[in-house]
Amino acid sequence: MEALKKIAGVTAAKYVKDGMTVGLGTGSTAYFFVEEIGRRVKEEGLKVVGVTTSSQTTAQAEGLGIPLKAVDDIDMIDITVDGADEVDKDFNGIKGGGGALLMEKIVATPTKEYIWVVDESKLVDQLGAFKLPVEVVQYGAERLFREFDKAGYKPSFREKDGSRFVTDMKNFIIDLDLGVIENPVAFGHQLKNMVGVVEHGLFNGMVNKVIVAGKDGVKVLESGK
Ligand code: A5P
Repeated sequence: MEALKKIAGVTAAKYVKDGMTVGLGTGSTAYFFVEEIGRRVKEEGLKVVGVTTSSQTTAQAEGLGIPLKAVDDIDMIDITVDGADEVDKDFNGIKGGGGALLMEKIVATPTKEYIWVVDESKLVDQLGAFKLPVEVVQYGAERLFREFDKAGYKPSFREKDGSRFVTDMKNFIIDLDLGVIENPVAFGHQLKNMVGVVEHGLFNGMVNKVIVAGKDGVKVLESGK
C-alpha cells in the first residue's frame, strides 16, 4: 500500500512546473508528493511556492526547504495535490481522515488544477462507508452531536491520545457513520446549513484529476471539469 501511495504522489509531482504556486495536501499519500517536490527543489532547482493544508504539512515542507506562502497572500493556486478517503464515479469524495478538511478545502477553492492522489482501494460506487468528518466549533458541539444522533447519523467525537481531537483551526471533529450517502451534494448543503458546523468532508465535484495507483499501474481519471 505504501508503494502505491508513493507512486501516486510522485506521479502527481510531474504536473508541477517552474514558477507555480502549489497547494500541498495532507495525509500519508500527499506526503510522498510533498517529498518529491522537496527533492526537485533541492536537486533540480525547481522554483515553486507552496501553500500548506495543515501544520503537519507545513513542518514537512519547511524541513524540505520548500518556500511557503500563506493562503491569504496569494490570489490563486496553480495546482493542489491532496489525498482522499473515498472517491465515487461522479468525482465526489470524502476527505478529512487526517482532520485537515477545513484547511484543505480553503486551499482547494482558489486552485486551478485540483488533483487527488489515491490507491485503488479509495474508489467506491457510493460514498459513506468511510465515516464522514464534520468540523464543528467547540461551543455547542454537544448539542450538534445530539442532533446528529437523533437524525440517525451515528456520530462520534474524533479522539486522539485519549482526548478529544482539536483541529489546526481549534475546532472539534464529529465523524458520522452513515454507511451510504445517497445524495452527497444535497447532504453537503444540509450539513453546511447547520449552525456550528464549520465545514464537512464532502468535496463534491471539486477535483479535476484523480491519480489512481493500483496493482496494474497508474490511471489518471479526468473529471472533465
Ligand atoms: C487529511 O485530513 C485528509 O483529507 C487526507 O487527505 C485523506 O484522509 C487521505 O489520507 P491518506 O492519503 O493518508 O489516506
